[in-house]
Amino acid sequence: MSKIRNIVILTGAGVSAESGIDTFRGGGGLWEQHRVEDVATPEAFARDPDLVLRFYDMRREAIQAKAPNAAHLALARLDREWPDPLLIVTQNVDDLHERAGAKRVLHMHGEHLNAWCRACDVRSRWTGPLISRPACPRCGEKALRPDVVWFGEMPYYMDEIFAALREADLFVSIGTSGAVYPAAGFVRNARDLGAATLELNLEPSQGSLWFDEARHGPAGELVPAWVDEMLTARG
Ligand code: OAD
Repeated sequence: MSKIRNIVILTGAGVSAESGIDTFRGGGGLWEQHRVEDVATPEAFARDPDLVLRFYDMRREAIQAKAPNAAHLALARLDREWPDPLLIVTQNVDDLHERAGAKRVLHMHGEHLNAWCRACDVRSRWTGPLISRPACPRCGEKALRPDVVWFGEMPYYMDEIFAALREADLFVSIGTSGAVYPAAGFVRNARDLGAATLELNLEPSQGSLWFDEARHGPAGELVPAWVDEMLTARG
């Protein structure tokens, strides 16, 4: 472990579960009987924009009342204290990594607290509702949508993520079911490129067999313990 320099960490909904944010595929992962896929596609938005905007307005409001948990805080500590390259790639659209203090974070599935104007293509910080069709602060058009990557859309930052995976000595996946690609494939990319791989998840994920090591339990316990190990080994 003392030879590890470059670290890429992938996080998913499980890292925010102990902050009280529902995971997607857990028991509470439905919103008023809608499957996530029914409100998270461009087709759903075209068919019933009010339904989709209301769904994201509720999620946007909800996350602002939540706080980072021990897993977010430990990752922020690692980001602060790790002297070598490190990247946290999150599938989460909440801002809890940042509110915990992490800086080296990429949101590959977008961010709840951004709105994307389909008229001028500019993204703006957005904390309020979108259901009332507010004007874009940049161009004035009423064409804002959540800046969240929907099924069938291209995730963000793929070039940066693959560049980091190519350099990684260690790839760590935290709190993700391994059900959604391309993120679910990163473990195999990282392995093929020579990185050691570690899973930290409540239970075996769909990709568990691809990891060199898997530890199962709540992120709020596993992540602080792993961060302690890393920083102690790094000296
Ligand atoms: P999922 O809901 O699919 O998986 C969450 C994972 O976290 C599961 O494997 C749980 O066992 C685990 N988990 C739950 N509580 C945990 C805890 N306290 N500690 C550790 N692990 C825990 O969420 P994601 O894998 O993040 O995409 O989902 C991936 C993508 O699917 C999301 O980003 C979203 C969704 O559709 C888009 O919206 C594009």
